[in-house]
Amino acid sequence: MPNASLVSLLPIKSATRSKTAPVTVVGFIELARGSPTLGYAQTALLLRFSEPVKARCEGASRRGRHTGFVYLDAMRIGNLEIDSPVRLAPMAGVTNASFRILAKECGSALITSEEIDATGLIRHTEKSEQIAVFHPTERPLAMQLLGNEAESLVEAAELLQERGADIIDINMGCPMPKITKTGKGSALMRDVAGTALILRALRRSCEVPLTIKIRGGWDRQHLNAVEVAQMAESEGVDAITVHPRTRSQRFAGRAPWEIIRDVVEAVDIPITGNGDVTSYGQAEQMMTETGCVSVMIGRGALGNPWVFNPDYEGWNLDSQREYREKTIARHMELIHTFYPEGRYSLLQVKRHLSYYTRGMSTARECRRTLFTECDTPDEAWTTFRRFWDAA
Ligand SMILES: Cc1cc2nc3c(=O)[nH]c(=O)nc-3n(C[C@H](O)[C@H](O)[C@H](O)COP(=O)(O)O)c2cc1C
Repeated sequence: MPNASLVSLLPIKSATRSKTAPVTVVGFIELARGSPTLGYAQTALLLRFSEPVKARCEGASRRGRHTGFVYLDAMRIGNLEIDSPVRLAPMAGVTNASFRILAKECGSALITSEEIDATGLIRHTEKSEQIAVFHPTERPLAMQLLGNEAESLVEAAELLQERGADIIDINMGCPMPKITKTGKGSALMRDVAGTALILRALRRSCEVPLTIKIRGGWDRQHLNAVEVAQMAESEGVDAITVHPRTRSQRFAGRAPWEIIRDVVEAVDIPITGNGDVTSYGQAEQMMTETGCVSVMIGRGALGNPWVFNPDYEGWNLDSQREYREKTIARHMELIHTFYPEGRYSLLQVKRHLSYYTRGMSTARECRRTLFTECDTPDEAWTTFRRFWDAA
């Protein structure tokens, strides 16, 4: 008998959500109110849960309040099973190995590299090679490519596969003019037929799962996420991440989650939703409202990597603070481990410590001191701790 006193599942409202998930159950979880008895069907469902899923049930129950619908299923992309549905979004200049490992340790089961220019990678430019560096503990790791020519994308994807990429992800969402004017990023969404040929070539050569990350469309007049998703599915793409803003919106305005739901309803492959999520609870809400099987968090993870821990929101303030302190110290340790002391590591330390000041009443003063008075990572850390301890 599973540990019935921890949770009660009331009632199982829907037994199917995704054809691609290993455990296809959506439950309504609440703290057991002195009634540890589970019905036959619920016990049978619990017995089917894998260990990580059980852990999530227990985490949810510890919050001591209704959590609404909670998706209990892990996610499968191709042959890869991903235990936790809430994960780190790729962010150029931010999601390097140290931040990815930190996110993973906090609970992001799948992490993605920042965008790597395919042409740069096959030419082995210093910048591309730096971005492509990863540590074996990061796996399973999705590595993201930026490009608009089948040949270079295929060659770059093969290179990344040989190095250990578990998923090849194609960036079809970058809105920056310097990228789109070369036909890359979200510009791929303007040429659906041409992009189909690129994905076909990649599908033929990729042995690992192939995924894409798209936007809602080019602009308000060209909202074609559904068309692009259907094309991608028919070309054999294994999963899609949808950031529903258009290219012209960049990051402004509200992310229209309805577009994620439209894509979920239009295809059978797993959809990851993305946009404006800043807490685990909101990620669950996005899954509930759109039916996506997983959620990527980008800006909401900056200075807030504990967002990937399903238990965090349920802890008391002291436990949360203790966890945050440990996580920040671990982040500094990871930066120190991965990057030799110098300009890059100092910038990383200052940038992330300044993110960690969010919510502190002295945040502005702490950030100013970090950037104007600290010349070494140690000085930056001591300064941060001084403000942190006083907060
Ligand atoms: C600084 C920054 C860099 C980004 N770099 C990438 C990237 O390399 N690849 C990509 O697919 N998306 C990139 N994005 C987009 C994010 O992955 C995500 O789609 C976007 O931030 C919206 O999600 P959020 O509201 O959770 O931040 C970047 C976003 C930011 C803010």
